[in-house]
Amino acid sequence: MESMNVYEHALNHWKSEVSTLLGRPEFNLLQKNEFTLESYRWYLRETFFHTRENPISQLIATRSFSRNQHELLSRYVGHARSEISHDLLALRDFVALGGSEEEIRSGQPLPDTEAMIGYTYACAHADSPLKYLGYLFHVEALPTVQGKDYIQMLLASGVPSHAVSFLQEHAQVDPAHSKLMAYYLENLLRTKEDERVFDLSMRTGMLLHYRMIVGAISRGMQGTPA
Ligand SMILES: [Fe+2]
Ligand SMILES: [Fe+2]
Repeated sequence: MESMNVYEHALNHWKSEVSTLLGRPEFNLLQKNEFTLESYRWYLRETFFHTRENPISQLIATRSFSRNQHELLSRYVGHARSEISHDLLALRDFVALGGSEEEIRSGQPLPDTEAMIGYTYACAHADSPLKYLGYLFHVEALPTVQGKDYIQMLLASGVPSHAVSFLQEHAQVDPAHSKLMAYYLENLLRTKEDERVFDLSMRTGMLLHYRMIVGAISRGMQGTPA
């Protein structure tokens, strides 16, 4: 299959899974698009904990890669390298909204975030590279497809423009990362079993990520300061 065919097929599947998942009652909060500033601060806090693990888990996943696909390994490691410091963008936005860097650094993620992080490491240690790629596909597709809309929504609800650097950077960079995803899938997705592993991991990563976001938003709505 052509790379765009494989990628477009996965992206269409991702889009239909997103709409199915967001139809669940547990995700009503996300459908309403109601963000308080406090909820956004919680989102940034949890995103800091989540994204600071990404370069490391992404590199651990190379243990299941073929020893013969040098070009693929090189592009993939470059991709992981480019994720380094993205946690600092979330931190910067958090501090721009009056948050304390020391508090966040000495704090712990919420349980839903911990579950998300735990899953990324489980994927990284799986026997198939498609397991981590399923999770990664979701986190790269979300800003590529919806990043700009989320930024508009936040700005419209009063979030200052100097506090959306994390989302802005990802809306710009992740379309390139999604092109890398197309390249990985073209080279690694071969069998029905590969597809099965990839699909389950994409859906699980998506579920846990949305739970993480809802966990953050609800804490903000309870009025608990982040
Ligand atoms: Fe990133
Ligand atoms: Fe990315």
